[in-house]
Amino acid sequence: MTDTPSTAPSAPAFPQDRGCPYHPPAQYPELAARGPVGRMTLYDGREVWAVTGHAEARALLADPRLSSDRQNPSFPVVVPRVEDQAAVGIPLLGVDDPEHARQRRMLIPRFSLKRVAAMRPRIQETVDGLIDAMLDEGPEAELVSAFALPVPSMVICQLLGVPYADHEFFEAQSRALLASETADEAAVARESLKAYLHRLVDAKEAHPGDGLLDELIADRLADGQLDRDELVMLVLVLLVAGHETTANMIALGTFTLLEHPAQLAALTAEPGLMPGAVEELLRYLSIADGMVRLATEDIELGGHTIRAGDGVLLPTSVINRDSGAYEQPDALDVRRVARHHVAFGYGVHQCLGQNLARAEMEIALTTLFARIPTLRLAVAPDEVPVKPGSTLQGLYALPVTW
Ligand code: HEM
Repeated sequence: MTDTPSTAPSAPAFPQDRGCPYHPPAQYPELAARGPVGRMTLYDGREVWAVTGHAEARALLADPRLSSDRQNPSFPVVVPRVEDQAAVGIPLLGVDDPEHARQRRMLIPRFSLKRVAAMRPRIQETVDGLIDAMLDEGPEAELVSAFALPVPSMVICQLLGVPYADHEFFEAQSRALLASETADEAAVARESLKAYLHRLVDAKEAHPGDGLLDELIADRLADGQLDRDELVMLVLVLLVAGHETTANMIALGTFTLLEHPAQLAALTAEPGLMPGAVEELLRYLSIADGMVRLATEDIELGGHTIRAGDGVLLPTSVINRDSGAYEQPDALDVRRVARHHVAFGYGVHQCLGQNLARAEMEIALTTLFARIPTLRLAVAPDEVPVKPGSTLQGLYALPVTW
């Protein structure tokens, strides 16, 4: 590893747990205060560059000299869970162009604004059905399992053509894949998801349906553009990324709004603010807090030279609170124009599901607060269980009442 030694006073550890679920861990802003480009230390002792400036992060994320190729043995390992990443072969997120562009082109049409707009009535129905059930069983609920998780899980099942009846299985395996302590545990989850998806592909070849998986089987598997393993891994990424991320945003977004009653009141009085509020929540919560890259050439940035072979971390929670890009960045402001945040990443790997995620969050949060206007926490805020820094940020559970 060629990462150069630290010249900074200290290179704080990455990842760290959040103290407050909607603020970055305490040491991240301290790092940012020293300059837009600093150093952090991974659990295996490796030091990497940490880019915390908004302009610098966007410049780097658009720079082809940074690689996402997780099969490169020098690619930084940020948590023990991904120690075997070089052997796994993660499509999209884990490959560079031209392979990346080839994979992405096959999927883009299904995630366009137009296709997502056509899904809105069905998303609204799903949201309404879940709220009906909560109201029937209330006046209390655990919002993650009753609402925040099933909304995106049902929606991604419908989009892909995966049976929602299997949700307990794939939700549990996805959670294990994204939050296991060890690479062995994650591998068990990944292999069981792969086996499940292989069986599903076999079943769909015999009895096609109308999901994206069915389309890929008919259009790409049949003529050899995709082989079975690549198809299964692509769908695995979509299935996992398609529900875990948005579920965290809906649960943590609800918690954050309940903790900011004046902002919530502004939103409920003026529902037209919701699309902007979703952008602001994405910026403020930055749940995918730490994109990782490997430099493949020397890059001059912020007065430093990032050398070929150096690891680069991009902690979105600090990049999205750069005071050079946002006024009063630590304040939640639903009227803010939170444009250009990097909560969905930036550059060629920018989130494929962002249009869908926005639609789901907008419909879920608008409907939840409109239909249950007296919604409140059923426990003290500090009793709400928060996910650790080593995974997507969010809440394990959100007990609410009304
Ligand atoms: C609010 C929810 C979401 C957040 C915060 C989020 C965040 C992100 C981020 C930060 C990246 C870039 C990673 C990188 O550059 O290393 C990304 C990529 C990706 N996301 Fe999302 N995501 C969300 C929802 C979704 C949904 C609903 C899907 C649907 C299938 C999805 C599918 C993907 C895929 C396939 C990629 C890889 C794109 C590529 O490499 O070209 N995401 N997401």
